[in-house]
Amino acid sequence: MTQPTRPCALLVAVAVAFLAGCTAATPDGPPEPDPSTSAQRAGLPYLDASLPTAARVADLLGRMDLADKVGQMTQAERSVVSPEAVAELRLGSVLSGGGSVPEPNTVEGWADLVDGLQQGALSTPLGIPILYGVDAVHGHNNLAGATVFPHNIGLGATRDPDLVEAIGRATAVEVAATGVDWTFAPCLCVVRDDRWGRSYESFGEDPAIVGAMTSVVTGLQTESLGSEPTSILATAKHYVGDGGTTGGTDQGDTELSEAELRAIHLAPYLAAIERGVGSVMVSFSSWNGDKLHGDAYLITDVLKGELGFDGFVVSDWAGVDQLDGAEGASRQDVVQAVNAGVDMVMVPYEYESFIATLTSVVEDGDVPRERIDDAVRRILTAKVELGLFEAPMTDRSLAGEVGSSEHRALARRAVAESLVVLQNSGALPIVEGARVLVTGSNADDVGNQSGGWTLTWQGASGDIVPGTTILEGLQEALGDDRVTYAPDAEDAEITAGDHDVAVAVVGETPYAEFEGDRPGGVRLSPADLALLDRLHAAGLPTVVVVVSGRPMDVTALLDWTDALVAAWLPGTEGAGVADVLTGAVRPSGTLPVSWPRSTDRPVNDGDGSSPLFGLGAGLTYEER
Ligand code: GLC
Repeated sequence: MTQPTRPCALLVAVAVAFLAGCTAATPDGPPEPDPSTSAQRAGLPYLDASLPTAARVADLLGRMDLADKVGQMTQAERSVVSPEAVAELRLGSVLSGGGSVPEPNTVEGWADLVDGLQQGALSTPLGIPILYGVDAVHGHNNLAGATVFPHNIGLGATRDPDLVEAIGRATAVEVAATGVDWTFAPCLCVVRDDRWGRSYESFGEDPAIVGAMTSVVTGLQTESLGSEPTSILATAKHYVGDGGTTGGTDQGDTELSEAELRAIHLAPYLAAIERGVGSVMVSFSSWNGDKLHGDAYLITDVLKGELGFDGFVVSDWAGVDQLDGAEGASRQDVVQAVNAGVDMVMVPYEYESFIATLTSVVEDGDVPRERIDDAVRRILTAKVELGLFEAPMTDRSLAGEVGSSEHRALARRAVAESLVVLQNSGALPIVEGARVLVTGSNADDVGNQSGGWTLTWQGASGDIVPGTTILEGLQEALGDDRVTYAPDAEDAEITAGDHDVAVAVVGETPYAEFEGDRPGGVRLSPADLALLDRLHAAGLPTVVVVVSGRPMDVTALLDWTDALVAAWLPGTEGAGVADVLTGAVRPSGTLPVSWPRSTDRPVNDGDGSSPLFGLGAGLTYEER
């Protein structure tokens, strides 16, 4: 990762040479004395925070044997490890997969989990702390009670890098409060086909938008990794071309020339590297038939060589296993991935087998020891720069920051800035005193408005986390006596009572990754369509709000609806939607993706197609 002011190179070289002399180690034999307690470790150069990072890492590397090094390259899943296993195998990292949470799923529960595993790491002879990684992709979304921010596609609609940096900062604080020091975010995917189940994880179809939103890296890491106690390691993912697969197939094949791959999908990584992103995660997808996890040209020659990325590269979840097409991580898989430039392997379950395989292929010379040293050097550099050796345990004083009113206010502002008003015949903003019928599948559902990667991997409908639904936001803004809620609004409910306007909140239910692939297109549910037909037949002025991870087929609605708003996946602060619908906040969002007339094909700016609404479309309200 790029430091703002590198210590004098000569000083570093002298320090490294001096320390190398101090630790005349055989290639894999630890030098004497072999420290076995923190007391014996005290005073060793790698623990001296006054020394340059490179010198500390060189000293530590020189004390490590092959078991130490292979352990550092191994990341295991929380559900299958213990502090004892971390100690015995000297694991470098543990992760929580989506929804893999401690019991209780509280700030204290997380801190106890992480600190317990950390104690295991610190009990080893060299006491190298673990990195604990989670997918905090729109807040600390695995944690009950955390602030859940809009998913990236909504943040792309804000075109507000400063806001996104602030969201990164708030997310980092809530993550750090639980002892976690690494998030597998941001996704820098450039979504080119909305049928892809991960479209909402993209900031947009335009690499310039995605590149601008790498400001979140600075929010997460601060100006330089570890420069503040709540700095956490960010991950630019999934390298590279994950959003460009043919047909939008998740983990599919990105069939592009190198020039197109660089122009569309590689570009955001330059911005992330410029911001010092500390890790990069490899994509499951392929480039012209070759799996990224085994692509030495793109990982080593381009990312590490040409672009100068000096952090570490982590595989995706068992991504290494896919290389030979057979189950499990074979010798061939491990050799190809590590030699291609993967530095840490997210195994995640069969970690003992992985360690045995990697050890064997190094001993057999199939993976050069220099490659292992390069991988471990990169991993240790992140740990030193994060300050893990000085402060490995959770700062419990941060607990009150989780779900704070300040963070929720920030999220509410982001929701309002993310809304895109696509059509408005004057029904918006809803005037004070109006009698409003609120209806639709997504009007009162914090789970649906949060989407995937919320509490669980796939997310879920219902009142799953503390938050404010869109209905509650409208009730708060307009007054309960002005709002009638009828989720399925039968004819009688629509025509009974005097409503001045209906707000129909429709859209998608949660999903993640390939579970969200819609090869046939992205359509409203039959229930939503039937409701809209009833509203149309009743002739009630109707505002349609689409809560979804991507554009949906809405062309048929335009002839009769009075307003159409894209709300994306706003997260827990649904009041931000009401802020725009009532005019408390004037809409400013613009489309980060083209909105197709039909979602059964990719439509992107400049491709000669004719979208229903183009990239950058978005209306505001006339000044009052
Ligand atoms: C998943 C995703 C990746 C995530 C990782 C850990 O399969 O592809 O984005 O960071 O596994 O949960």
